[in-house]
Amino acid sequence: MLLKDKLIKYKKQNFVPMHMPGHKRNTKLLGNDFLYDLDITEIEGFDNLHDANSCLKQISDFASKVYNTKKSFMLVNGSTCGILAGIHALTKCGDKIIVARNCHKSVYNAIELFQLNCSYLYPKIDEKTGICESINPKDVEEALKKNMGAKLVVVTSPTYEGVMSDIIEIAKVVHKFNALLFVDEAHGAHLYFNENFCTGAINCGADLVVQSLHKTLPALTQCALLHICSERIDDKKISNSLSVFETSSPSYILMSSIEECLHFVFKNRSKFNQLSKNLVGFYNITDKLKNLKILKIEDFKHAYAVDKTKIVVLTNQSNITGIELASLLRKNKIEVEMSCANYVVAITSVCDSKENLFSFANALVKIDEKLKKSAILKKFKNIKLIAKHPAFEDYEKKQIEFANSEGEISEEYVYVYPPGIPFIVKGEEISKEVIEYVFELRKNGLDVKSTFSDLPDKIYIKNP
Ligand SMILES: Cc1ncc(COP(=O)(O)O)c(C=O)c1O
Repeated sequence: MLLKDKLIKYKKQNFVPMHMPGHKRNTKLLGNDFLYDLDITEIEGFDNLHDANSCLKQISDFASKVYNTKKSFMLVNGSTCGILAGIHALTKCGDKIIVARNCHKSVYNAIELFQLNCSYLYPKIDEKTGICESINPKDVEEALKKNMGAKLVVVTSPTYEGVMSDIIEIAKVVHKFNALLFVDEAHGAHLYFNENFCTGAINCGADLVVQSLHKTLPALTQCALLHICSERIDDKKISNSLSVFETSSPSYILMSSIEECLHFVFKNRSKFNQLSKNLVGFYNITDKLKNLKILKIEDFKHAYAVDKTKIVVLTNQSNITGIELASLLRKNKIEVEMSCANYVVAITSVCDSKENLFSFANALVKIDEKLKKSAILKKFKNIKLIAKHPAFEDYEKKQIEFANSEGEISEEYVYVYPPGIPFIVKGEEISKEVIEYVFELRKNGLDVKSTFSDLPDKIYIKNP
């Protein structure tokens, strides 16, 4: 079957999409006019994204107005290309960079490609769920003291699970050490449109912020923005780097979708109020869950704030895994964003109807009634990681049994996608805990990926 036919068939099944893209296929609300007959290239009168001075510049300028930034750039290759371009523009080969260990794999790719000298910030990990909590500003200060002259600090806020960090305090510390702060806000483009949402990084002192519009707002997949938020950043360097990492044939359909999205959020604040109210309804209905649990800020010990539009349903006190919950929800025609051993993640957006959100809540209640309380999974351990990132050194490598790789230096990245946060980074020592963790994930049905080998059988390591 052709992909197009598969997509049409799936559409006809009317699943409730509790996942990205944030437009939720809600053509009733957004219209339905992105078709072939609008797809063009840089013909006369349609500007050029990499040297914009007319209609495309107007969209970027509007993005800058909507988000109140110094300058904004449209991205049609997702936040991934904004992360690569941003880190490229703000560093030189061999520079010191400090990154949160729970960053997306694009940050690690940038470190390796640009041969940066990286140190990590370790968020505390919630023992019961394995979820990373906030980055502590004191840890940022310690890291900057230990790495004098570091150019750039990169943190993710909100995370895939909606955990926010205190960007105001982190920015103060970073600027005290004359470094720059780049916030990966891929999951936070919606935060600016309702006072009940957490405050976004643009308003908290970050220098550079990347957002995936497609994840939480009505925009087609791949639509994203890169915002310059302070005078410390040279916009020429950013646009130069974007011309390296962003396609030279940007889709006019995607750029038009970015514009539509910006106009939508500019004109429809009331719809975000409605989402906020509907979420209160969702949380009220799911308050009666006995075995499943909706993750809240009180469940964390070290979280600064959480984004309530991300719904994390914990299964760790019940007799099912997150993967089994996702499958039960699928039987109720509800598809979530991600499932893992201990929980599922659902993404809500301004395009979710009240009915869809409530049918998700009611399905959880119905499933919950048939479950039992029990902890079938052992507690997640805080995986020990080495502090230095020697990924760019040229090692000889050899492949060995993964089960026997304790103490070796990994030559591969190991992760589950989504969310694509590596739990073994190239250049790190492989610990006993991480080996056990990978086997446990596999036992629970998770597809653990690595760069070259077939896990959990083999892994490439540094040949000493
Ligand atoms: C935290 C985070 N940053 C960056 C990205 C990359 O975003 P995109 O898919 O828009 O390239 C993702 C993707 O899932 C992500 O979760």
